Amino acid sequence: MFARSAIRTLAAPSSRLFSSSSARHTKVAVLGAGGGIGQPLSLLLKTDPLVTSLSLYDIRGAPGVAADVSHIDTASEVNGYAADHLDDALQGVEVVVIPAGVPRKPGMTRDDLFNTNASIVRDLAAAVARVAPTACILVISNPVNSTVPIVAATLEKAGVFNPKRVFGVTTLDVTPPVTVVGGHSGATIVPLLSSSNGKSVSGEAYEKLVHRIQFGGDEVVKAKDGAGSATLSMAYAGAKGVTTPTFVKSPLFADQGIDFFSSNVELGPEGVEKIHPLGELSAQETKLLEACLPELKKNIEKGKAFVA
Ligand code: NAI
Repeated sequence: MFARSAIRTLAAPSSRLFSSSSARHTKVAVLGAGGGIGQPLSLLLKTDPLVTSLSLYDIRGAPGVAADVSHIDTASEVNGYAADHLDDALQGVEVVVIPAGVPRKPGMTRDDLFNTNASIVRDLAAAVARVAPTACILVISNPVNSTVPIVAATLEKAGVFNPKRVFGVTTLDVTPPVTVVGGHSGATIVPLLSSSNGKSVSGEAYEKLVHRIQFGGDEVVKAKDGAGSATLSMAYAGAKGVTTPTFVKSPLFADQGIDFFSSNVELGPEGVEKIHPLGELSAQETKLLEACLPELKKNIEKGKAFVA
């Protein structure tokens, strides 16, 4: 998963290689650790040799998850924090992963979650700004197209925003070997099949594949019939090395007023090292991008306006 690859990169500042002998200590906090994503994500982080300390926070259930996960026989220490101990959970943390908030029910769009999740994410980001202002923040809570601008604006307000260190987790949209750019919901998800060995797909098969990638998350929400979203695949999502599509503050479409965008991003010890351009697009992809941009712009502006 992206979180894991980011942590690995950050934990090995002198080399890009994954190495369990790194002397560096990496303290990671999961905010929303008691949830459908938070629990398996905490389990996976506990098995990562480069995570030396794990802080699990939730408004309910985190100490229990911490006690459970602590029985996994790896070297890292785990601490669970209940509702009024958010600041304690964030002490000395270098990577913060945020899956806190409500997930979709069948028939809901990610934007339908805005009213609930915007304030949850804003309040968590304000605490990170106060206690761990230099931490990398990985936002899973939806709608990612808006929650990432909310985190950025909250950090900006506190005077600690570093665009290299705030990421929206879009890894779930990536269906190897397809690069996926844009945002993280419906039409804002733009798969680049022409540069991903997808050249042979055309006509109805192309339309179907694009739809499957744009609405893959809905399939899981529907199949779970109200009992959860894509929690297990989200928590796993597969480590892919240090270049991965992620939703970050990006110059690619800034001239059109869209200053957050997901494209392939090279990660390094400081966070974002290089934002890759989209490369050549087919006529179909240009059309998908045209549909993405206005919707994405609205989602971003909604997030910014919420904090302003
Ligand atoms: P869930 O309801 O199972 O878990 C959410 C957890 O957040 C709960 O344990 C809840 O107590 C906790 N929480 C609520 N308010 C909190 C607060 N103020 N501080 C700390 N914790 C708080 O939901 P699930 O399925 O784990 O999804 C979490 C979020 O991730 C949702 O917004 C969902 O839409 C999103 N998601 C994102 C994906 C992505 O690809 N970026 C994929 C799937 C889901």
